[in-house]
Amino acid sequence: MRYGRFDDENREYVIERPDTPLPWVNYLGCEAYFGLISNTAGGYSFYRDARLRRISRFRYNNAPLDASGRMIYLRHEGERETSDPLFWSPAWQPVRRPLDEYECRHGLGYTVIRSRQGAITSSIRYFVPLGESLEIWDLTLTNIGGRPAHLSVFSAIEFCLWDAWDDLTNYQRNLSTGEVEVEDGVIYHKTEYRERRNHFAYFACSRPLAGFDTQREVFLGPYRGWDSPAAVESGRVSNSIAHGWQPIGAQHVRVDLQPGEDTRIIFLLGYHENPAGEKFDPPGSQTLNKRHLRPVLDHYRQPEKVETAFLALGAYWDGLLSRFQVNTPDEHANRILNLWNGYQMMATFNLSRAASSFESGIGRGIGFRDSSQDLLGFVHLVPERARERLLDLAATQLPNGGAYHQYQPLTKRGNHDIGSGFNDDPLWLILAAAAYLKETGDVRLLDERVPYDGTPGTETALYEHLQRALRFTLDRLGPHGLPLIGRADWNDCLNLNCFSDTPGESFQTTANRDGNVAESVFLAGLFLLASQEMIGIARFHHRLPDVEAFLLAVREMENAVWKAGWDGQWFRRAFDSFGRPVGSQECDEGQIFIEPQGMCVMAGLGIVDGRARAALDSVAARLATSHGILLLQPAYSRYYLHLGEISSYPPGYKENAGIFCHTNPWIMIAETKIGRGDLAFDYYRRINPSLREEISDLHRCEPYVYAQMIAGRDAPSHGEAKNSWLTGSAAWAHVAMTQWILGIRPEYEGLRIDPCIPSSWDGFSARRTFRGRTFQIVVRNPDGVCQGVAEMKVDGVDVPGVVVPADLPEGDHSVEVRLGR
Ligand code: GLC
Ligand code: GLC
Repeated sequence: MRYGRFDDENREYVIERPDTPLPWVNYLGCEAYFGLISNTAGGYSFYRDARLRRISRFRYNNAPLDASGRMIYLRHEGERETSDPLFWSPAWQPVRRPLDEYECRHGLGYTVIRSRQGAITSSIRYFVPLGESLEIWDLTLTNIGGRPAHLSVFSAIEFCLWDAWDDLTNYQRNLSTGEVEVEDGVIYHKTEYRERRNHFAYFACSRPLAGFDTQREVFLGPYRGWDSPAAVESGRVSNSIAHGWQPIGAQHVRVDLQPGEDTRIIFLLGYHENPAGEKFDPPGSQTLNKRHLRPVLDHYRQPEKVETAFLALGAYWDGLLSRFQVNTPDEHANRILNLWNGYQMMATFNLSRAASSFESGIGRGIGFRDSSQDLLGFVHLVPERARERLLDLAATQLPNGGAYHQYQPLTKRGNHDIGSGFNDDPLWLILAAAAYLKETGDVRLLDERVPYDGTPGTETALYEHLQRALRFTLDRLGPHGLPLIGRADWNDCLNLNCFSDTPGESFQTTANRDGNVAESVFLAGLFLLASQEMIGIARFHHRLPDVEAFLLAVREMENAVWKAGWDGQWFRRAFDSFGRPVGSQECDEGQIFIEPQGMCVMAGLGIVDGRARAALDSVAARLATSHGILLLQPAYSRYYLHLGEISSYPPGYKENAGIFCHTNPWIMIAETKIGRGDLAFDYYRRINPSLREEISDLHRCEPYVYAQMIAGRDAPSHGEAKNSWLTGSAAWAHVAMTQWILGIRPEYEGLRIDPCIPSSWDGFSARRTFRGRTFQIVVRNPDGVCQGVAEMKVDGVDVPGVVVPADLPEGDHSVEVRLGR
């Protein structure tokens, strides 16, 4: 069953009823000010850091779900039809009174919620103007009935006292710190401004207010919820000024509408920082300095300025997405690739894993491996920002080449609580750097001076950071010559040194055993892939002597994998801290894992001798389901002390045999490495969210974005998704589809076009911007093959090989490719 539909032309997903299985969310903001917004206007906003600069409150784990957010109430003040309620929410929540019509459109950086209740239609458009740290709620009300309507509009937001963690925990202090100011109808939230903060939030409106409230319990009334505030029920706010307790911003506006008349009200919720030394106005007082903010408020209270900002936002997204557009025989691939996948990748770029319906914004900062992998997908969209991200990541690297697992976006410093010791982390940086270099050709990146652990004076060239990252693995080899796993590798839950038997202990940070035995075959595969990238980087950077050293390391690691990492029909996963294999026929449970099959074949292992094919056949036979490919089989049926968190999950969920979507594209890529385009694309379709729209009752998450996990075969809810939006699945699915299935792959010397498509396709076309040139690519497949370029023409001229040279004149170029035997 569906809850909406794709509107491809308008680049929106249209949700047709408010009671979706879960809140279906969108993101507002793409630079510094961000908000999550659901299809009923739930969610919250923050400035740069979802934990440290939270602007509005949201209660995760609440019942009903998603009932706090951007609240608007409409109330009849005059006579009304008997069928009309006294008050309702035009976005359905929080009042949840049935609406006569409802529609939510999630678009690129904006959401529009339209509804009708009796004769009153409402449309609210939410967005964040580019370059601003504020969000706009642009409300239009229309009276489509035959008699005048007299309405009250109430808007409300619950302020968060900045640090979202503290806000949830430290009530003995927080219930006494809240402070606001109200001036000219603008509500300012200034908790802690008197002391060390120089920032405040504000809630403004384009209309004169009939009144306001800033103390939550005054607006709601004692023991009442947001679904029936006393002020809305009675039609009267109290002009309360919050002192301590729970500061809110609630505004009351009166509206009279003649039949057929409409009106527009603009609400502005924003964040503002004052220059140090200019906090107060007049100086020496305790009154907020609003001089710098006033012009911004004056600007956005004007509807035509709001319109201009909205158009600019559309143009920004046009510019980004036009860098890569495809037209294949598959509408679901087209829809996701041309729009939603790119859009989702920008969310993962901006937010890493910080804030979603499943990530509370107080847990994780920017993950080292997560952001490095995200970069593989989005680098062509925002190369300049990718560069900055690369340098930020590298600056959190440790002198030994290792990396903090996460860093805090506001401070850009490594997160000490989680520390380091995830032995895969540094290698992903090499993959990310290579992706950036191939996309841009910007070799100067490698000479950028970057510190270690954010410590001034320790700077070396980025190239050396990458060398140290490789070295980090080689300095940590185990008994079989394979990389030691440390706390964990990509699979955070494979904790082979952890041995945790204390409830509540974090698997990620608990003290580990010495860790000199447990090894990872996956990490060996990743090391090989990273070494190959490093060889490419060294050549590009004219460091030819280094190439020899890297090649030697590659040969030794390959030998180690074949000696100890091959299980007969597939690659093993690891060796535990007793030196016993994990992911082997010898095991009772967890005999085969997806990760090493993908990674080792991506690194080229076994392609020539057929072992890659055997491994992938094992994946098809043992791990593939119609909902995607399982992480492992058989699932762990109980907790194993020596395996850690992976066996903490009930079978079928998360790393314990869930469909961890992030890993599926590795298998797609691996399939293209052995030329099986049909199967590669079949796997692509299984997790493509658009294809799962039909089964929204089962899938439950948004049908326009990838989810981290779909419940596996062993779970009672096989096929149900969780953790949508912020997942490496987005970048990897994009890489698998565009670079390996469509085969349009940036390389140092140019743009490789080497597709591996379904044999049933008669071809496809694509438009790709690459190093300042735009390529119109047409691929024909008259013989019905999967792979093999028989002919390539650039601007009508035959070109040998499959790489379009990077040094063509700037401008547009045509590329024609014929596949064939
Ligand atoms: C989560 C983490 C990611 C990890 C994966 C597998 O998605 O964000 O870093 O690799 O889980 O455990
Ligand atoms: C848990 C999750 C895993 C995630 C990790 C990091 O272990 O299962 O997916 O990567 O937490 O916070």
